[in-house]
Amino acid sequence: MIVTTDALFKVAYGKFAVGAYNINNMEQALGLFQGHRDAQAPFIVQISKGSRKYANVKMIEAIIRAAEEIYPEVIFAVHLDHGDEETCYDCIDSGFYSSVMIDASHEPLEKNIEITRRVVDRAHARGISVEAELGMLGGVEEDIKVDEKHAMLTDPDEAREFVERSGCDSLAVAIGTSHGAYKFKAQQSLHFDRIAEIQKRLPNFPLVMHGSSSVPQEEVARINAAGGALKDARGVNEDEFARAVPLGVTKVNIDTDGRLVWTRVHRESFRDDPANFDFRKPGKVFVEEYARFIVHKSDKLLSRGMLETVRAAVSK
Ligand code: G3H
Ligand code: 13P
Ligand code: ZN
Repeated sequence: MIVTTDALFKVAYGKFAVGAYNINNMEQALGLFQGHRDAQAPFIVQISKGSRKYANVKMIEAIIRAAEEIYPEVIFAVHLDHGDEETCYDCIDSGFYSSVMIDASHEPLEKNIEITRRVVDRAHARGISVEAELGMLGGVEEDIKVDEKHAMLTDPDEAREFVERSGCDSLAVAIGTSHGAYKFKAQQSLHFDRIAEIQKRLPNFPLVMHGSSSVPQEEVARINAAGGALKDARGVNEDEFARAVPLGVTKVNIDTDGRLVWTRVHRESFRDDPANFDFRKPGKVFVEEYARFIVHKSDKLLSRGMLETVRAAVSK
């Protein structure tokens, strides 16, 4: 069942984080839905501009509709990830999306507010919620001096002003994570002090953590042992999600880790069965492994077993 992102956030805030996973193809969709059925966890399916282009908008949306029919018991929202203004309007007008993200974080504050406000007005008129982004995600490195490092994180006062003036429904904040498989030179913690400061100024307001893949070292080692070349790949400590949840982190975006599952399964499959040319063999293994991965993540996000609580809340 597709629900509004707001409905998920209302139940989740302070108790668990909703995992938001990017999908690009059928196998990912099957693993994603199966995994959340197994974990009894609500979730968000997110579609990026890249996915809409790669799979074709009609195809990727049809895959999600089909997955909903195959797994009627799961509860999820459909979200546009890192949208520009034009793509946001396309998604809002389509009637298929629960929420959109307008990512104007590269713009100066005033311009970011102005663009986000336009998208919010149009989205709210259709009952769709909007995630916006403030701060510079990425490139927060261990060896950068403290002042510089903190300058890259979301400023708490600016966050409050941004939310008040833009009218957005959730905010992606820079709290020490970055996109991709190469997040830090050494293991680094989330900036809990900064998250707490933002929450003080925005109580009960859902914060979103992008760049949340943990890049498991075991996964990286297996990929490299099967011919991969992922040197010094490193991610966030997934055990820290539980500490971020009471501080208002309500949506956690994960894409890279799923790509690593895909890479490991396919590299090992072709290494171990070089005569195979049936893509369904590794495809089937991937679906199962991706579903197992989702159950594991749901545990870390504290969303495992929350499905019936969400069902009760949305059917009121
Ligand atoms: O944050 C971006 C997501 O990982 C989506 O990646 O734009 O390559 O589809 P993509
Ligand atoms: P990762 O690259 O850490 O998986 O982050 C994904 C993301 O933030 C999608 O918006
Ligand atoms: Zn992101």
